[in-house]
Amino acid sequence: MEKKYTNGDITVVWKPDVCAHSTLCWKGLHEVFNPKNRPWVDMKGAGTDAIIAQVDKCPSGALTWYRNDAGAQEPESTEVETIVEATPNGPLMIYGNIRVKDSAGNDTVRHKVTALCRCGSSGNKPYCDGTHKKIGFQD
Ligand code: FES
Repeated sequence: MEKKYTNGDITVVWKPDVCAHSTLCWKGLHEVFNPKNRPWVDMKGAGTDAIIAQVDKCPSGALTWYRNDAGAQEPESTEVETIVEATPNGPLMIYGNIRVKDSAGNDTVRHKVTALCRCGSSGNKPYCDGTHKKIGFQD
């Protein structure tokens, strides 16, 4: 079930069923993302720019954000070369701007980092949801 957290400026959206448990969020910005707290997201823990920078690093798309005054919108695009990296025993990481068209016909613009399933067992294809660890994917 989707949850939303706001600081009045932006809203962070968390989709737990999409989370790949990369732990990047709480290792990168523990003042905001702390899985030991309830709620686990404290929007007062850091400034808006720091929260945006951290959320943009979420590889699965479980964490996204939008500006409250502009309604739901895509984050600003970045001027970076797109890099595709097959991680050992893990997902296909894509760094840069991409448009993902899934089998259901959804068209999603993604920025910064995206993790696509390489093991074939994700419950959230085409994105990685961390299942590769549970099944012991080797490649
Ligand atoms: S590569 Fe992560 S779930 Fe398939």
